[in-house]
Amino acid sequence: MPLNILISYHSDYNNTEKMAQAIAAGAKAATDTNIISKQAIHTELDDLVAADLILFGTPVHMGSMAWQLKQLIDKTGKLWMENMLEGKVGGVFATGGGFGGGGGGVEATMISLYSNFLEQGMIVIGFPKSLPGYADAGLQWGPYARCGNHEGMPQSISDSQLIAARSYGGHVAETAFQLLKNPL
Ligand SMILES: Cc1cc2nc3c(=O)[nH]c(=O)nc-3n(C[C@H](O)[C@H](O)[C@H](O)COP(=O)(O)O)c2cc1C
Repeated sequence: MPLNILISYHSDYNNTEKMAQAIAAGAKAATDTNIISKQAIHTELDDLVAADLILFGTPVHMGSMAWQLKQLIDKTGKLWMENMLEGKVGGVFATGGGFGGGGGGVEATMISLYSNFLEQGMIVIGFPKSLPGYADAGLQWGPYARCGNHEGMPQSISDSQLIAARSYGGHVAETAFQLLKNPL
């Protein structure tokens, strides 16, 4: 039985979308998967219910997640009432300008996504530092690509940052598969 993966993200300028694509490629290479990848504003509650593994990605907007993803999360109250997401696996990824070198709010953003997953009774999977790409775009929470320069201007996500996204995609898919599809 393949692992059903939903990658739901927001992206205005394609950086987070490219990360979503790299995560999907890593997951596909790692195990037997059905992958649906879509913008948060096009994501339905049924997409969440059908998934075994849910990956949320967002650019950092004013120190927190993009409203488009928060809007989707706020619609999941009905699923919380009915325990519909319990036992599913979750992971997160993000991009940001990161002006000032402190991350520009990315850690708060990623942790708050995990808080939503844990509130739903989901199992969450971070990003081990031994995996490829971590040194360029790794946080323990998941891959994070800094897409801004020292003048605070946007710059495109780099190939080395996409390597981190790809390796995280492989890691979460493989781990979720072992947890949910391959019981001892
Ligand atoms: C409205 C807005 C607010 C932003 N706020 C932050 C911020 O608080 N921290 C940060 O690191 N980057 C911030 N950025 C930069 C974006 O997170 C960054 O450019 C990101 O890579 C864009 O992702 P996208 O290409 O997927 O849209 C902001 C960008 C916009 C458009």
